[in-house]
Amino acid sequence: MKRLWFGLGILTLASCATPRTAPIPDTAMATRSGVTYETLQKGHAVYLAQCGRCHEHILPQDVSKADWHVVVPGMSWNAGISAADEDALTAYILAAKRETR
Ligand code: HEC
Repeated sequence: MKRLWFGLGILTLASCATPRTAPIPDTAMATRSGVTYETLQKGHAVYLAQCGRCHEHILPQDVSKADWHVVVPGMSWNAGISAADEDALTAYILAAKRETR
């Protein structure tokens, strides 16, 4: 019995300690979102490289879809990224949000 409680304790700790991060694209995410895997990977790379420069990375799941449509263009301008990178970033953020809600 003692052992069981110990095991449960570890499980609880592990779930609390799980870092909240933006999901890493995979082919299943591409299939579900209808966005190509390459575009998702590009968007994720842009997100990692650019979107934590001035503040912590703000997770896709923490902002509403409507707000992302307003925020991404402004933040892309802040970050000075190309229109193509912005498109990939938007596609990635919205696909990632769909995965995590
Ligand atoms: C050059 C600095 C800079 C970069 C790069 C940047 N941000 Fe920001 N971001 C800010 C500042 C400053 C604020 C707070 C003021 C504001 O809302 O404009 C902010 C706020 C935000 C907010 C909250 C907006 C709100 O109205 O609550 C989100 C979400 C966000 N950024 C996402 C991103 C994403 C995604 C990227 C990647 C393209 C990014 N940011 C890159 C400076 C930056």
